[in-house]
Amino acid sequence: DPNAPAVRPTLLLTRRLPDAVEARAARDYAATLNPTDAALSGLEIAARAADIGADAVLCCAGDRLDAAAIAALPDRVRVLATFSVGTDHIDLAAARSRGLTVTNTPDVLTDATADIALLLILGAARRASEGERLIRAKGWTGWTPTQLMGTHIGGKRLGIIGMGRIGQAVAQRARAFGMTIHYSNRRRLPPELEAGTVYHADPEEMLSVSDVLSLHFPATADTRHWLNAARIDRLPPGAILVNTARGTVVNDRDVVAALRSGRLAAAGLDVFENEPNLFPDYCDLPNVFLLPHLGSATVETRNAMGFKALDNIDAVMAGQEPPDRVP
Ligand code: DGY
Repeated sequence: DPNAPAVRPTLLLTRRLPDAVEARAARDYAATLNPTDAALSGLEIAARAADIGADAVLCCAGDRLDAAAIAALPDRVRVLATFSVGTDHIDLAAARSRGLTVTNTPDVLTDATADIALLLILGAARRASEGERLIRAKGWTGWTPTQLMGTHIGGKRLGIIGMGRIGQAVAQRARAFGMTIHYSNRRRLPPELEAGTVYHADPEEMLSVSDVLSLHFPATADTRHWLNAARIDRLPPGAILVNTARGTVVNDRDVVAALRSGRLAAAGLDVFENEPNLFPDYCDLPNVFLLPHLGSATVETRNAMGFKALDNIDAVMAGQEPPDRVP
């Protein structure tokens, strides 16, 4: 019947998304939203997908889709589009063996995340949260020549581990602040991208010249707790650590000990292992600048991430290759 309405595919959204993204999802799909925005376990996501007969699932970085959850997803689900660039919350091998397409949202969050890395570098170096807390506690008695003196970032060496899109965007910004850029990456950048930076084939060796160390590599089994006490000890005394990647790539116990002893002068952290439950001692330390995983949190970026996730789902539903398939 040519007059019958086209049957729209069924889509499960695991979390609340920006209004414009939900509106487009509701226009193009029989979409089930998550009105309470409660975080769902992987098995709950699979059960909801089964209940609604989902063809596609749009999930987020906090959704743990491990092998059991992937196995529990109904066969009908053809694509798992994550509203994130990171994919460490998804068991990709399980998805692959089930023939499930996984997509992510690269590029559109590069600048927002690099901006947050600079905010953390500056906030940690200039003791921003100590100053803010002083004022909020009504403890500020006025300007003094020696109050809350931080560290100048101009002229310091920034060590970037993981020189992908976000690492390069951080380098570009930090250079404008007068920092010298050192980097380590599995592959060396082509000369036009590398210009003005110092490449270190061995990340361990780069640590010794990193006055500020910023982490920009993915969380995998191999990179779990990569920054540990032994590696912190290679940094110059009083170095600053910045993490906008994933909390699991640092060993919290070792980082806290180094912040306590002064081995690390300060840290700026946007991501944590076991979010939202922070390693307890972070909140008690004055020399950490803490943010609640805000790397991509701008209206513009979150809209763009949602549209990208939907573009990927649209492509799979149309039988086309999605633009951002995760290999
Ligand atoms: C990402 O994109 O991986 C962020 O951490 C969350 O959206």
